Amino acid sequence: MSEALYPVPAALAADARITASTAAAMHALAASDPDTFWRQQAQRLDWITPFTKVDESSFNEADFGISWFADGQLNVSANCIDRHLATRGDQPAIIWEGDDPADSRVITYAQLHEEVCRFANVLKSHGVQRGDRVTLYLPMIPEAAFAMLACTRIGAVHSIVFAGFSPDSLASRIRDCDSRIVVTADEGLRGGKRVPLKANVDAALDHCSSVEKVIVVQRTGADVAMVAGRDLFYGPARDAAATDYAPQAMGAEDPLFILYTSGSTGTPKGVLHSTGGYLLWASMTHEHVFDYRPGEVYWCTADIGWVTGHSYVVYGPLANGATTLMFEGVPNYPDHSRFWQVCDKWNVSIFYTAPTALRALMREGDAYVQAASRASLRILGSVGEPINPEAWEWYHRIVGDGRCPIVDTWWQTETGGILIAPLPGATDLKPGSATLPLFGVHPLLVDAEGQELDGATEGNLCIAKSWPGQMRTVYGDHARFFQTYFTTYPGRYFTGDGARRDADGYYWITGRVDDVINVSGHRMGTAEVESALVAHAKVAEAAVVGMPHPIKGQGIYAYVTLNANEEPSDDLRKQLVAWVRNEIGPIATPDIIQFAPGLPKTRSGKIMRRILRKIAEGETGALGDISTLADPSVVEKLIADSQLAS
Ligand code: PRX
Repeated sequence: MSEALYPVPAALAADARITASTAAAMHALAASDPDTFWRQQAQRLDWITPFTKVDESSFNEADFGISWFADGQLNVSANCIDRHLATRGDQPAIIWEGDDPADSRVITYAQLHEEVCRFANVLKSHGVQRGDRVTLYLPMIPEAAFAMLACTRIGAVHSIVFAGFSPDSLASRIRDCDSRIVVTADEGLRGGKRVPLKANVDAALDHCSSVEKVIVVQRTGADVAMVAGRDLFYGPARDAAATDYAPQAMGAEDPLFILYTSGSTGTPKGVLHSTGGYLLWASMTHEHVFDYRPGEVYWCTADIGWVTGHSYVVYGPLANGATTLMFEGVPNYPDHSRFWQVCDKWNVSIFYTAPTALRALMREGDAYVQAASRASLRILGSVGEPINPEAWEWYHRIVGDGRCPIVDTWWQTETGGILIAPLPGATDLKPGSATLPLFGVHPLLVDAEGQELDGATEGNLCIAKSWPGQMRTVYGDHARFFQTYFTTYPGRYFTGDGARRDADGYYWITGRVDDVINVSGHRMGTAEVESALVAHAKVAEAAVVGMPHPIKGQGIYAYVTLNANEEPSDDLRKQLVAWVRNEIGPIATPDIIQFAPGLPKTRSGKIMRRILRKIAEGETGALGDISTLADPSVVEKLIADSQLAS
């Protein structure tokens, strides 16, 4: 790992929103008097009813619960829109850049107010009330942000399902939270290709009896089937709707949204975030980590179907009155220069993307980057997976012309926002390290037994104390919330990640230590892919592990045991790949399928994934002890066949 050090640029050290001395004072107050610290920070939001309570959280079983500012009341859309109207009603709130470079839209805060109110009225007229769950299955179009904010205006809880998920994945998420309303589009458009969203919804609804209304935004104008009485087009409803809607006062602890994410076991869980704590965290971290300054154009390339899109395309920037750029397209369409052309076109100051995109672009050569001036860029960000030092250096040297600090931000769907990241005006950078915890964040490393490790060391990453943006529960299963995150190391939140801490206290995230893999920054439970595989009529058993992949970070390596009488073939391999794409979505496409007549199991029948991981990594010389296997000879066969499969 690179140990190069990039000091804070002199200009930033002097005039960043948070300089080294401000940071030291804030860390000190957060440590010595957290109550005062959080009371002060929470003043960045507009409260309808001021809170008197602050942190009432506990990670211990006896009094377990997460609660912040519990008796305060606020409304998220009022914080993201209304309070900015007097000072920046005519400032762009959202710049939308379409898939086609000729397609764009600028939406001011005043227009955003009108659009969100109209959307809220449409939802209300179809029976959506405070507390109802509304499923959004939408492409990256402004209406996605309008719909999110409209839900918050009513106090309804949105559940966004990434528009790349299959009908089955959508159906299970609709069922889990019992949505009565789905908002979708006729089609999505990415890289010039159309995605049949409405048709996917129709297929999903064959398996969901709860849904009464489907609101369809017309993105491409495609001819789509509409079910009488159930489906309606958004356009005419929007035109007829009133342009004002009073924001609902919500308790700080009322649910804001559900977002499904993968874990190491079973089905995806509905991560539930709160109104007050979440918004505070999204807003604070957006300003602190990106050194956001009024008037700047800020661009996070994430899709709203992921948590990064929630916190850093919509809620954080809009709460701060920023101009946020929303991009419908992909980095390589019309060509590999697209990101940098968009930066020039809209004068982007802050650019936030994922290492997988950087690695893919790096491979295409520097000329695509240098075709654009990128003169407006000031801060660059990275999220979603560890950034390898080579990609970091390229991002810094080529994209940022050596001028722009890179903020490598570590966080998770569960954390609501960034927990470990540099502050551009205060933190010296080391390529590949997410650096130091933000204010009031208490990471610690533990060994397998839960013993806290001191100093420079490596271990499992836990967080010792609650922070306002922490998830509140797994929707509908509070016991699972406690069980998943707080029982491995009692009294601590366990992240599922491993990390190294160096002598300067910098954190280097080494990746997941559980059965979760990170494919192109998308989180995937190996169990989900396995259950999709075993649902195929010819498959008896499957074991899925991550493998190193030069662009995606991790790829999906599946070992498949066929039913007796079934013959392995290339054709069947292709069928299985297509099957998984169809069951879950293209992000779950297996990179390698290896037919395995036997899997390495202990005598009690547990699959030893450690061995499968090593084989997938090509490290067959370091398999460790295999003597506890019921049949050690399967390992030789797996190794021999792995050469054939790749
Ligand atoms: O393994 C860590 C990795 O992504 C996981 C969280 O995935 P998800 O909930 O989908 O959220 C992604 C967007 C925040 C983490 O457990 N991860 C995220 N950011 C980083 C990272 N690994 C290393 N460095 C990062 N900056």
